[in-house]
Amino acid sequence: MSPLLDVRDLSVGFKIFEGYLSVLNGVELTLGEGERVGLVGETGCGKTTTVKSILRVLPMPPARIAGGEIFYRGKDILKMKRREVQTLRRMELTAIFQDPLMSLNPVFTVGTQLRDIVKDSLGASGKKLTKKQITARCIEALKETGMPDPERIMSNYPIQLSGGMRQRVCIAEALSTTAQLLLADEPTTNLDVTIQDQILRKLDELVEEKNTSVLMITHSLGVVMDLTQRLYIMYAGTMVEEGQTEELFASPLHPYSQGLMKSVPKLTGEGVSDGIPGRIPNYLDPPAGCRFHPRCEHTMPICQTEKPPLFNVENGRHVACFLYRS
Ligand SMILES: Nc1ncnc2c1ncn2[C@@H]1O[C@H](COP(=O)(O)OP(=O)(O)OP(=O)(O)O)[C@@H](O)[C@H]1O
Ligand code: SF4
Ligand SMILES: [Mg+2]
Repeated sequence: MSPLLDVRDLSVGFKIFEGYLSVLNGVELTLGEGERVGLVGETGCGKTTTVKSILRVLPMPPARIAGGEIFYRGKDILKMKRREVQTLRRMELTAIFQDPLMSLNPVFTVGTQLRDIVKDSLGASGKKLTKKQITARCIEALKETGMPDPERIMSNYPIQLSGGMRQRVCIAEALSTTAQLLLADEPTTNLDVTIQDQILRKLDELVEEKNTSVLMITHSLGVVMDLTQRLYIMYAGTMVEEGQTEELFASPLHPYSQGLMKSVPKLTGEGVSDGIPGRIPNYLDPPAGCRFHPRCEHTMPICQTEKPPLFNVENGRHVACFLYRS
């Protein structure tokens, strides 16, 4: 059976004043129906760029899709007409971003936006509710996120809310949709620590109930462990390893993953300097071959000239490293 989402050899860059930033370099990612998949990697490795490419919300220019395909239910999102993408975003895909202003419409109140989502989801399921019942459902969804004073918030515009409140609105939207795929990009960064766990559990329940597929991006390896079954490790715009979350944690194979796991429990914005010396490369002039080679203690001559593909290792593990070439 073909996967729900299948990202193949995706390359994306940004044209800036100084030149061309070659950020995503042949990203591979698949996600099955009802599956929960994690994506981790240090800051700037291209996680958000991947999500925005899937949703087709990258600003073009400066962004440019240099190659690849993004299949959703077998259809290439990159080739869809604008209308089709809008329908997909309304009915099938939902996202929670690090910066929630990205996904909220500044000219409509929170209430208008939430009510539209609830109406769409009712339309899809063939149910009918009165206006009052729809409003009550929106308020309930806001309450579930721990939003203070949800009745009042309904008549506010996104700009009138704090970062944490906006993130709660996005989560309430995600809780109210019928979407089949949730792209959660640091869904709780703007929330107090006390509510983070509660919200993640709530999202988890929802996903379980509706059999929603999830791509979870987070800096917290604890969250990844708890909430995902399969995991991708990303480095400098490429997937370097993929496998069952538990197995990957127990025995990371790629030299970068090994360094990353040493930096547990938290991947901070400072990178992974505890585990691996050096920094993520400059995308204006990234290293040829394996992008990790300047930081890798196992570098071989081939690593400097050829990009390692994802080799199929034992138990369906995939590792992009010439050490695992059979
Ligand atoms: N609009 C843009 N214009 C120019 N460069 C961009 C743009 N958006 C992203 N980039 C660059 O692409 C690279 C990857 O950024 P991205 O936001 O995808 O990283 P990330 O993995 O999500 O990091 P973080 O963990 O900090 O959120 C960075 O070097 C960033 O500066
Ligand atoms: S391909 Fe080479 S440089 Fe890259 S991680 Fe493997 S050994 Fe290190
Ligand atoms: Mg990001």
